[in-house]
Amino acid sequence: MDTILVVCYSLTGTGRRLAQLLCSHHGWPLGEVVEQHPRAGATGTLRCVLDSLRRRHPAVRYEGPDPADFRTVVLVSPIWLYRLAGPMRSFVAARRDALRHVALVFTMGSGGASNAVAEVAQLVGRAPILVGTFTSREVETGIGTSRLLAFGNALLPPSAGSAVGFRPAGSLEISASS
Ligand SMILES: Cc1cc2nc3c(=O)[nH]c(=O)nc-3n(C[C@H](O)[C@H](O)[C@H](O)COP(=O)(O)O)c2cc1C
Repeated sequence: MDTILVVCYSLTGTGRRLAQLLCSHHGWPLGEVVEQHPRAGATGTLRCVLDSLRRRHPAVRYEGPDPADFRTVVLVSPIWLYRLAGPMRSFVAARRDALRHVALVFTMGSGGASNAVAEVAQLVGRAPILVGTFTSREVETGIGTSRLLAFGNALLPPSAGSAVGFRPAGSLEISASS
């Protein structure tokens, strides 16, 4: 199937906002990774830290269309301690066979996505076709919107009139500007 699904995990809402914008602009469906044990307060933050340090796989459930039905899955996740957020790690590990082509979007305070890119590539066994990084500020102020939409356009097949074109192999990076 020549289609695109966006799957997001978001703790504080930044990535969810970004994913909703991407989906509404392109008409793509959105799935969400939801934690079995939601995080709150200082204890929740401590769990984020420990999940990252120990590369843990917290219990999650997935709510959305089956990723196996889509050509490309765009994964949207925050960066925690310079690593992939634990709940997205759990999702990718559980669904790796369904993830044929992945594109990655990371939201973060300032930086640290390279470890997460490498971890997803290792989990699914191939490099992502496209990587985009956005600071929370870029999402909250809207400064990053045009770059986000360009990211989405780059995933479209050439027949859809994309200026950049679909890249089934290799990897292109669209990085946060600050
Ligand atoms: C425990 C924890 C660790 C974080 N570590 C980093 C980090 O290493 N680098 C960074 O730029 N931002 C870091 N952040 C900030 C988040 O990545 C950023 O706020 C992100 O946009 C949150 O996305 P969300 O609102 O979708 O959960 C961290 C946030 C938390 C809660």
